[in-house]
Amino acid sequence: MEYTEFGSTKEKVPRIGLGAWQFSDAWGVTDYQKAKAAIAKALELGMNLIDTAMVYGNGMSEKFIGDAIRELGVPRSEVFIVTKIPGHFLSYDDVFRAVDGSLRRLQTSFIDALEAHWPPAWHNIPTCEYARAFERLVEMGKVRYIGLSNYPVALIEEFRYCLSRHDVEVLELRYNIVERQAEQQHIPYAEANSMTVLAWSPLAQAAILGKYTLEDVTKFNDVRRNNPLFRPENYSQILQLVEELKEVAKKYDKTLSQVALNFLLRASSAVLPIPGAKSPEQVEENAGATGWALSYEDWRRLDEASKRLRISYVDIL
Ligand SMILES: NC(=O)c1ccc[n+]([C@@H]2O[C@H](COP(=O)([O-])OP(=O)(O)OC[C@H]3O[C@@H](n4cnc5c(N)ncnc54)[C@H](OP(=O)(O)O)[C@@H]3O)[C@@H](O)[C@H]2O)c1
Repeated sequence: MEYTEFGSTKEKVPRIGLGAWQFSDAWGVTDYQKAKAAIAKALELGMNLIDTAMVYGNGMSEKFIGDAIRELGVPRSEVFIVTKIPGHFLSYDDVFRAVDGSLRRLQTSFIDALEAHWPPAWHNIPTCEYARAFERLVEMGKVRYIGLSNYPVALIEEFRYCLSRHDVEVLELRYNIVERQAEQQHIPYAEANSMTVLAWSPLAQAAILGKYTLEDVTKFNDVRRNNPLFRPENYSQILQLVEELKEVAKKYDKTLSQVALNFLLRASSAVLPIPGAKSPEQVEENAGATGWALSYEDWRRLDEASKRLRISYVDIL
């Protein structure tokens, strides 16, 4: 595993983390032993940053992570846990109440990075109200670093203005070889401000892995049922990108997931993908995206192929 520094801190974190939304009804890994096996493999490989959230399986993901770390006997200091508080839990008092629940499920006395999962849309909570609660948690030793997920840059700026002693160290955003909107504003902003970018859905929920046909994706019974990437007009284009990925993968003797993740790593040193994995085999394969690099020419080839896509999210026609 390759390592990097977390945000502006000197904290050592892996270049690829483990996404733990999979340990929920939404993705289907609700058997604790399966989740534990994936977590154990990630930790064994040094992929020791785990991304979870209160809403993943209504606490199931956090509970599984807490149980696994305890049962595996891994020292707490050797795991970097990122969790998130949903946008509707962001009143000052709710922040503390919600974080107490996470600490209990994770069976830990502190969270490495606490993020607001999304802005408090519909709840009209002033930004400084929850920013101060986040900062108080850092001062009290319950949270080490602060982050924001799915925030526009203007609101990130507003949030930072509310902080007095600490800064935002991490942004978490959707970023994969198909959906590259984060490159426009967020990644340059993170680079300029020494922040880490956790890339969510870095495998486009497996759309770019060539493992599902146009017919297969109509039968998804998990969270992907509602992902516009799998609609025929989008997915048929993505399957063309898959052909390019296959050719590049063959050249390097790597898998599609390894090439797709390496593409993100090459795009910016601030980016830290957090692919979700359902098994130790998937974890191991994804870890193999580090330790090598796509050439400039092959990166450009994939860059061009991905820019040819015309993805639309409009589904009410
Ligand atoms: N902050 C946010 O708002 C937000 C939103 C979404 C996700 N996230 C985080 O980002 C993480 C990853 O995103 P994601 O879950 O949306 O999607 P993803 O990582 O793009 O795709 C994960 C899925 O791809 C398949 N897969 C993974 N590795 C594979 C491999 N090596 N070979 C073959 N198939 C493989 C698995 O599904 P199958 O085996 O079933 O095909 C897996 O469930 C989540 O776990 C979560 O921690 C955050």
